[in-house]
Amino acid sequence: MLTREQNEMLCKVGPGTPMGEFMRQFWVPAVRADALEADGAPVRVRLLGENFIAFRATDGRVGFFDEGCPHRCTSLALARNEDNALTCIFHGWKIDVSGKVVDVPSEPPERRAEFAAKVRVRHYPVREAGGIVWVYLGKQEQPPKFYNFEFNNLPESHVLARRAIMHCNWFQGLEAVLDSSHLGILHSGWINTNRPQGTTDLVLANAETGPKFEFAMKPYGFREGALRPQPDGNIYARIREVVFPFYSFIPGQPTNPRSMICAIPIDDEWNAQWYVRFDPHAPLSEAVREFTMRGTSGDPDNFCSDMGGWENMWHQDRQAMKEGHWTGIKRCVPYEDFIVEEAMYPIVDRTREYLGSSDSVIIRARRMLLEAARAFQNGAKPPWQEKEIDYSRIRSLAIKYSSDKHWLELDAFNPPAPLP
Ligand code: FES
Ligand SMILES: [Fe+2]
Repeated sequence: MLTREQNEMLCKVGPGTPMGEFMRQFWVPAVRADALEADGAPVRVRLLGENFIAFRATDGRVGFFDEGCPHRCTSLALARNEDNALTCIFHGWKIDVSGKVVDVPSEPPERRAEFAAKVRVRHYPVREAGGIVWVYLGKQEQPPKFYNFEFNNLPESHVLARRAIMHCNWFQGLEAVLDSSHLGILHSGWINTNRPQGTTDLVLANAETGPKFEFAMKPYGFREGALRPQPDGNIYARIREVVFPFYSFIPGQPTNPRSMICAIPIDDEWNAQWYVRFDPHAPLSEAVREFTMRGTSGDPDNFCSDMGGWENMWHQDRQAMKEGHWTGIKRCVPYEDFIVEEAMYPIVDRTREYLGSSDSVIIRARRMLLEAARAFQNGAKPPWQEKEIDYSRIRSLAIKYSSDKHWLELDAFNPPAPLP
């Protein structure tokens, strides 16, 4: 349970709010790299309660500006994109990809150059990695350390980044991703469907729905082990890596492609969840790509666009529930997550909840984020960005192992052979 003030602090992300200012100290995923085409339409991006546009210039560079034209604020999403610059269709002001105003044809020719030099365009540094354009929205001259995750260093063919947009606060999104105890319950329909083929190690998660959680603090966040004793005396561990403020590396079998999920605030009531699937060793096969998108809307920029909402109860199938499906949400696993998140309403009232021991991960995450944002407000440096951290060595793991080992001895980069 949180107080009303704590809940507000966690959820409000606009400019000037404590959490909003704190988050602006980090790089954030903004838009899919492939969604930007050289000289193509600029793409509107809403992040942390503000509106921006991203575009790809003629030479392939990406520009990231405030959405409103610096002249009279009409949307630059309408602008012409050519000649490594955007030109506003209203009065023709031209801004090059670096954010410099290079022409103001609405002014008399003799003062154009001088006038243009004075106009400031709010533009932001970007990085392209892992199929994503990342942006730094803070005000420091020197952008912070980039989270050089394993997938950010892989060739394009090894990574599939896609995004879902949902109507709820970012922290409802993050909490669902951090919550390992719902796995064998919320997703049991899917697990049971796959059980006969034995196609998933998640089957093991069902043996014991209430796992025991253990933690190890890390300079980037924490490592969490959800430990489920198995009937044969061995242990099934789902070892997650949580990198603050946004990222959760989802436990996966050592040989399978891996997943990172994060929840990025669009504003107080909407969030974008990025699902990044990647294989450190090989290109993702067509079969994996197809499987990853199966049951979704297929739109990589909003793969839950056809999920439904309150007006149709997200197409929950009551007949399927009678016939044995747990949720009646049969499209795909992520929809089950998204729907329970949206069904808390856009900003859940955390003064009314009743937490148990299985909620220890989210309790920890809330405390760490609130403390960090408060410390930042009081002048401390933002945590989780120390020079020494090697984000490329952060990997999750799901594995059945012998109970005479400790889960913290398991190395995700060099795991033991999983027990059958
Ligand atoms: S509003 Fe863009 S040039 Fe006038
Ligand atoms: Fe889930």
